[in-house]
Amino acid sequence: IDLYVVAGNPVGHSRSPEIHAAFAKQTGQSLHYDRLLCPLDGFEASLRAFVAGGGRGCNITVPFKFEAFRLAARHTPRALLAGAVNTMRFDEGAWLGDNTDGAGLVADIERNANRPLRDRRVLLIGAGGASAGVLGSLIVGRPAEVRVVNRSADKAIALIDTHRDWAAQHGVRLSAAGLDEVGDAHDVVINGTSASLSGAGVPLPPRDAPVLARGGIAVDMMYGPAAAAFLDWARAQAGDGGEMRDGLGMLVEQAAEAFFLWRGVRPDSARVLANLRAGRE
Ligand code: ATR
Repeated sequence: IDLYVVAGNPVGHSRSPEIHAAFAKQTGQSLHYDRLLCPLDGFEASLRAFVAGGGRGCNITVPFKFEAFRLAARHTPRALLAGAVNTMRFDEGAWLGDNTDGAGLVADIERNANRPLRDRRVLLIGAGGASAGVLGSLIVGRPAEVRVVNRSADKAIALIDTHRDWAAQHGVRLSAAGLDEVGDAHDVVINGTSASLSGAGVPLPPRDAPVLARGGIAVDMMYGPAAAAFLDWARAQAGDGGEMRDGLGMLVEQAAEAFFLWRGVRPDSARVLANLRAGRE
């Protein structure tokens, strides 16, 4: 049977095994998907042992997405843009590194929430690994602009610098600033910070003018309780017609992209997401 894992540290709370099990059942694919806890100084050794034992592919989570990028011999264009890898396929001879996080986020916004990015104004909060993983895919949706704001503004500037050509090719205006220079209200506001982990629910300083436009959509890349404070704050600005999403949809959709890379089959991810939200499976 074909073996897959999610490799990380910690990895015990990952929901990827149940998601991929649901995909496999739904599509009739025969595979087994497990968790692989890797020592912090033993990621490469863990992967080599997994491949030697018949591993066909893996997902990568914290803190190994950058090391996975270095270990891959070949990269998809979106992995090159992100500078990080969340999905590997162990092809004979050369490991392929991909990054499906951004495609997952965009699928959740455009397909699941039915909110095309085209011509919208997007605010991406944070310039760490999570934001780097999605910026290239957001640009593919051809919004009018993406503004990246970060606590340390220089990191936001560095992030957009690596995406300038890509944005120009897609006709997207890119800008970067600190958290206190958000600018006008945006149609789409995405929280890619880890602020909620340190107890700060909303990563932005208080201000009078709205950050999210009325009727707009907000997404927190975290899911469950970690997303609640940010989404409550955003809901108050968007009012009726606003759309609030935690990161569970993104998680399922990035998994569906990985599943497609490995198996060549697209699962019905929306149904798996609905089942997860309803507490089934
Ligand atoms: P990840 O892989 O989750 O993105 P990371 O690369 O460490 O982790 O990035 C964390 C992000 O959350 C960064 O954008 C960080 O801002 P800095 O680059 O200025 O450190 C942001 N962040 C973390 N805690 C925050 C807080 N309390 N308020 C605002 N931003 C915060």
